[in-house]
Amino acid sequence: MWNIIRTFYERSVFRTSERAGGSLSEGPSLDLSGKRTTFSRRPVFRILLLTCTLLASLQLRAEDGYRLWLRYDRIDDPSLLAQYSSAITAMIFPTPSPTLLVARNELLDDLGSMLNKKLPIRTSLADNCLLAGTPMTSPVIAQLLSSKYPGLSGDGYVLHTQQTEGKHLIIIAARSNIGVLYGVFAFLRLLQTHQSIQDLSLSSSSLIQRRILDHWDNLTRTVERGYAGASIWNWHLLPGYIDQRYIDYARANASIGINGTVVTNVNANSLVLTPLYLQKVRALADVFRPYGIRVYLTAKFSAPVDIGGLKTADPLDPAVQKWWKDKCDEIYSLIPDFGGFLVKANSEGQPGPQTYGRTHTDGANMFADALAPHGGIVMWRAFVYDARPQTGHADADAHKTAAIDSDTHEIAAPDRFKQAYAEFTPFDGKFRSNVLIQVKNGPIDFQPREPFSPLFGSMPKTPLMMEFQLTQEYLGQGTHLVYEAPLFKEVLDADTYANGKGSTVAKIIDAAASGAPLTGMAGVSNIGNERNWTSHPFGQANWYAFGRLAWDHTLSSRQIADEWIRQTFSNQATVVSALEKMMMASREAVVNYMTPLGLHHIMGFSHHYGPGPWLDNASRADWNPVYYHRADAYGIGFDRTATGSNALAQYQPQVRQQWLDSNTCDEKFLLWFHHISWSHKMKDGKTFWEELCNRYQSGVDTVKWMQQQWQSLTGLIDKERFTQVSMLLDIQEKEAEWWRNACLLYFQTFSRMPIPPGVGHADQTLEYYKSLHFPYAPGSGGSL
Ligand code: GCU
Repeated sequence: MWNIIRTFYERSVFRTSERAGGSLSEGPSLDLSGKRTTFSRRPVFRILLLTCTLLASLQLRAEDGYRLWLRYDRIDDPSLLAQYSSAITAMIFPTPSPTLLVARNELLDDLGSMLNKKLPIRTSLADNCLLAGTPMTSPVIAQLLSSKYPGLSGDGYVLHTQQTEGKHLIIIAARSNIGVLYGVFAFLRLLQTHQSIQDLSLSSSSLIQRRILDHWDNLTRTVERGYAGASIWNWHLLPGYIDQRYIDYARANASIGINGTVVTNVNANSLVLTPLYLQKVRALADVFRPYGIRVYLTAKFSAPVDIGGLKTADPLDPAVQKWWKDKCDEIYSLIPDFGGFLVKANSEGQPGPQTYGRTHTDGANMFADALAPHGGIVMWRAFVYDARPQTGHADADAHKTAAIDSDTHEIAAPDRFKQAYAEFTPFDGKFRSNVLIQVKNGPIDFQPREPFSPLFGSMPKTPLMMEFQLTQEYLGQGTHLVYEAPLFKEVLDADTYANGKGSTVAKIIDAAASGAPLTGMAGVSNIGNERNWTSHPFGQANWYAFGRLAWDHTLSSRQIADEWIRQTFSNQATVVSALEKMMMASREAVVNYMTPLGLHHIMGFSHHYGPGPWLDNASRADWNPVYYHRADAYGIGFDRTATGSNALAQYQPQVRQQWLDSNTCDEKFLLWFHHISWSHKMKDGKTFWEELCNRYQSGVDTVKWMQQQWQSLTGLIDKERFTQVSMLLDIQEKEAEWWRNACLLYFQTFSRMPIPPGVGHADQTLEYYKSLHFPYAPGSGGSL
């Protein structure tokens, strides 16, 4: 009920009255968060407004997180408010396109809210005027861009102050309409984070062209690896019913530069390509278009058979090729700016070209040819770990390997680490120019820490796009506070040495450095229909950080955290400093209490929740934690040097050198590459076993410290989010201890060494931890 009143109030009264172009007369009032704003004097609106205000005042200052980082509350520093107010007294903003209209309304609404005044719209220059637009809409902007920012390209924007005809102007300019919208959000960010707007002369352009959220959302509205409720796409009510969330989603994405969304799961359902669903997809695309967001779909390889009545999906069969061409023509007749397809093929039971004895290039190029006439692209995933050809239709069981022998612990399966490289590098340069190979950041699967995927730097003739995971499948799922920007940055800044020193992963995937004609970065979404979008309030920071880094990977994690905190919580120095410290420590904490020193993939089976290092009976060997940690009486870790799987050989010699010797290998990657003895001497002189125990404890300690930091903010954070995060941190603390206890008890059965002093002791037996089961753990999405 409250939400209905609030939504109605916000949309019908506050926003609509302003969007009408400011023709209504104004008077002062209070909005829901207590800030002063304006309202209409039309009687019907006024009565409604007063009723709503009365009701809403009962929950003043409530923060349910729905507004994300787009809160735009009144500037609470009086002198800054006065400064901003005197610098912005009017606006010139012609709106000959839907995108410019959206941009202007955003600026009007948010400035109105932050400055507590309604800005008049003018058609001629005035002093202290904000001028926004493109060279097409303003000669002043045309002159500015050609004289001072000739290099500005694409959807980049400029924020600039200057005197023109004796008048002080703040200019938001771009060459494209969507660039203006990005500029508007960048300008609003300056105000929301309390920056100076006095002498502006900045320009920003994205280094990556396709900045995309991948939703692993099923048509049933379950979300694979989703921990924030159901899918936000209400397929049943589409296309007739447009949820306000779709608009707010587009707005939030545009505010951080995200320009694409794959709305369906990589474990795809062919039904989305039927006319019934394409109408629904079209409705979403229509909503997103003004915000510069293109829609993409996942294409199931077997769709010609599933829904097309063909007997085969063989990519070299002319009837199959024609089917996809016709399908693309149909899609583009509905959605002229459709982005293209994301395809998971021949992986985890999905059908693909190998099902028909064909190759990844045969498959990807077939889609590419069908999409090319329309300007569409194919994002072909390199997350493959089953090379064996399948026959006929996809059969999840067809490629299962024997489990690990429980007596000998012999593992027959090849090293999954090596598979993507082995399958893709032979095809370097053989994909069409509208194909991007989408590569997960590491060789296995979004673990708390992985070395970068050896594919980066190994396919110089093929554009590779990055795939990060925002949803925290292996990072505490919906309950742990883990800020992922340090993880993203660690990978982006890793040196591949592909073109000599300094060939970072970021440079491999960005156009400026690599010269690639097509560039992209994808983040697997952590969004659901929970009121606050991501369930954990700090999950929003990962969505935010992904967008900001996809736009500009040179930003630092700290800088992004700082921005996000100021916009989402507060500009108060105490709050910013405490939250920033918590966020910056959180990723190392989760590595320590889950998988320190290079451990990986030791979580519970299938749902991936909680520790399960003892698991050894999954149907595929490489789904078993014991396959990855290989603990025995001697030691622990996966030997990936020449004496083991030799996966290290997939890296450039300089990288290999870094990790080759267990005595010099960066300890954070030690067990990724070495099977080392329990008494191995670590750099600090301790034995490996002691170090392992200490790391687990240090992870727990950091979570306890985070709890204290959070508690120190009592009274400085709104009650709703304060309570929410306090409870979540309590869960995180318990789960960190659970990880420490279960893992150390289990590994101790091999090391047979005592737990060192200072490390917490388990209050349960190993058998107890092994006996825990979580039949309805979230995130399975119904497709596992
Ligand atoms: C992981 C995840 C799956 C997902 C897969 C993928 O294995 O657990 O749910 O489908 O990655 O990226 O395709």
